[in-house]
Amino acid sequence: MPILAANWKMYKTVAEAEVWLGAVAGRPELELAEVVVFPPLTALHVLRGSGLGLGAQDVGWATEGAFTGMVSAPQLRDAGCAYALVAHSERRRYAGEDDRMAARKIAALWQAGLTPVYCVGEDAAERAAGQGEARLRLQVDTVLDSLGDELGGRLVIAYEPVWAIGSGTPATAEQAGEALALIRERVVGRCGGAAAARLSLLYGGSTSPASAGGFMEQPIIDGLLVGSASLDANSFLAMLEVMVHA
Ligand code: 13P
Repeated sequence: MPILAANWKMYKTVAEAEVWLGAVAGRPELELAEVVVFPPLTALHVLRGSGLGLGAQDVGWATEGAFTGMVSAPQLRDAGCAYALVAHSERRRYAGEDDRMAARKIAALWQAGLTPVYCVGEDAAERAAGQGEARLRLQVDTVLDSLGDELGGRLVIAYEPVWAIGSGTPATAEQAGEALALIRERVVGRCGGAAAARLSLLYGGSTSPASAGGFMEQPIIDGLLVGSASLDANSFLAMLEVMVHA
C-alpha cells in the first residue's frame, strides 16, 4: 500500500481540523493506502479514533522528567499517535536539531512502539556545491552509527530536499529515486537485507496532485510526505486518488 503522510506544520485550529476531517473521513480510498496525518499537537484529539494514522511533528528524546516543552514518545502514544516526524528540516533550521539528536529520538520512539519518520535532505547551497550525496550519507550514517547494526523497529525515511520544500518546484521523480536508492543502500549495507523489510522510503517537497503519479512510478518510492497540498481536503483527496491508482 502506498503511504500518504500529511504534515500540517503550524497550520489549522481545532475547528479547521474538524472541517478537514469531515471532508475526508469515510472515503473508500483511505482503505487502499497507509494514511498518516501529522497535525499540530493541539488538534491531535480531533483525528484520534478517525481511523487515519496519527503522528506528531516532533518528539522529545527523554521518556519523562523536568524537560519543559518536550512531549515524550510514551505521552504521544497516550495521545493516540503511532508515528512521529524526526528532524524535519524546519526543526533542524529553527530548533537546532541535528543527526545525533535525531538518533536519540528514533530510539525513544522505537522503545515506545512508535514509528519514526526520519527526515533527511540537502539544502540549496550543499546541492550547488555538489555535496548533496555527502550530506545524505552523513545524515543516515550518523543515525545508524548511534543506533547500532539492527533496526529496533520499523523505520520510515523521508527524502525532503530543503530546496524543494515550500518552493513550488519538487525534485524530479528521478532525483528523488536516486537519493532514496542511496539511502536504502546505506541502511541495507549496514543493517543487512532483513532491515529492508522494516524500511519505507518517502519523498517530500512541493508535491501536488499533478506530481504525485510520477513519484509513485518510481519503484523505490513507497509514498509521499506532503505539506501544503495536504491542508486542503480536496487536494489531499486528489493526491490520495492518484496514489492508490498509480
Ligand atoms: P511542502 O509540500 O509544502 O513543500 O512541504 C513538504 C514538507 O516539508 C513535508 O514535511
